[in-house]
Amino acid sequence: MKVQIMTDTWYGNGKLLAEALKEEFSNEIDINITDVKDVSPKKIVEDVPNVIILGGAIRMFRGAPKSKKWLKQLNKILEKSGKKIQYGTGFLTHSMPTNKVQGYAKRYRNKIEKASMIEATYSKMLTARVKSSKGPIYTEEMEKARDYIKEFIAWIGK
Ligand SMILES: Cc1cc2nc3c(=O)[nH]c(=O)nc-3n(C[C@H](O)[C@H](O)[C@H](O)COP(=O)(O)O)c2cc1C
Repeated sequence: MKVQIMTDTWYGNGKLLAEALKEEFSNEIDINITDVKDVSPKKIVEDVPNVIILGGAIRMFRGAPKSKKWLKQLNKILEKSGKKIQYGTGFLTHSMPTNKVQGYAKRYRNKIEKASMIEATYSKMLTARVKSSKGPIYTEEMEKARDYIKEFIAWIGK
């Protein structure tokens, strides 16, 4: 079982969140964390993961445009190669109040669901609020993230 966690981080909050998620998986699972700025979708498809967790941030009232673009390319390359990813989910970091970002989370989930080569998308995206643009992520949001990923792990059956 191979899990790929992607981030699009400016100040490292997305990476810290990814690392917290990684900790919840069993040691037998191969988990790789990389940033959409550092790795091409093509590279990921070469050694295709079973699970993708696609992170991003809300910036200038836009929900993870870079991650969405990366996902679109990923799906195209998967289509060409005929390879599929079994499970997908995603997370968004943000500074706006959580109740103001539910629409963003829903639209982000729709993008992952629309990616035809990702076979199953989890019902809920993770959102994690930062105290200010540079962070940190609120403590209770980190706790929420750990609970979220435990549920996700149960869903994929690992
Ligand atoms: C230029 C800029 C614009 C931002 N605009 C928003 C915004 O519209 N809504 C929001 O909730 N957070 C906004 N933020 C806060 C980011 O969501 C926050 O910096 C990011 O989630 C932190 O994660 P990172 O360290 O992984 O980049 C903005 C941050 C920057 C730097």
